[in-house]
Amino acid sequence: MAGRKPLISGNWKMNHTHLEAIAVVQKLAYSLSPADYERAEVSVHPAFTALRSVQTLLEADNIPIALGAQDVHPADSGAFTGEVSPVMLAKLNVSYVIVGHSERRQLFGETDEQVNQKLLAVLKHQMSPILCVGETLEEREAGQTEAKVLGQLQAGLAGVSAQAMGRVVIAYEPIWAIGTGRNASPEDAQAVCKAARSALGERFGTAVAAQVRVQYGGSVTPANISALMAQEDIDGALVGGASLDAEKFAQIVRW
Ligand code: PGA
Repeated sequence: MAGRKPLISGNWKMNHTHLEAIAVVQKLAYSLSPADYERAEVSVHPAFTALRSVQTLLEADNIPIALGAQDVHPADSGAFTGEVSPVMLAKLNVSYVIVGHSERRQLFGETDEQVNQKLLAVLKHQMSPILCVGETLEEREAGQTEAKVLGQLQAGLAGVSAQAMGRVVIAYEPIWAIGTGRNASPEDAQAVCKAARSALGERFGTAVAAQVRVQYGGSVTPANISALMAQEDIDGALVGGASLDAEKFAQIVRW
């Protein structure tokens, strides 16, 4: 963690209407104290339909939780029915945008190249991308974890300057651990996060790599967060299921 402020992010996926989202954020704000926000940065990533409501609540009540989105289209505007642009997100004061989540890659066929375009678009509009990378179970069993993760990193970060890297967050999410209740052991997660950081070091220099926050994601719960956060190269978590409930998510934030 060495000097990097942890980032705990709640990825709500396709859950919570805007009314439910407001209720969860209100409960979360009630549970968290200034000391909690001091120790870790917190972001919530509601569905697009709830962004405006959550933004309004955060700003009206001065709640220091960052607003995040789950995806974005790379173009500023245009004939892309059903898509949401980075301009629209920036206007809602979105701070973090998840790109390349494995569900987008697997269920919607997103390629590394598309993920890279999205990441560059997020940076162009002064927001921070959370770039998700991770291997399948078959890849892990075949000993290809590092090759897969480092390949996704390399491709996802094409065209990014060392300076812009200061705004990029990496989320290592082994696909077999997402939503399965089967999390990577803290040591295994650490090994991959460390490899990712050293690859960033080779590409951008060790000083830049030392500043980049690397989250772990995949079945993070109040019970396993402490052991994960104790690892040197893990600087936070991208939490799915357990972030839907305000009390559970608050417990994770307070690990
Ligand atoms: P999970 O999801 O915590 O439900 O495993 C994590 C993610 O997909 O970001």
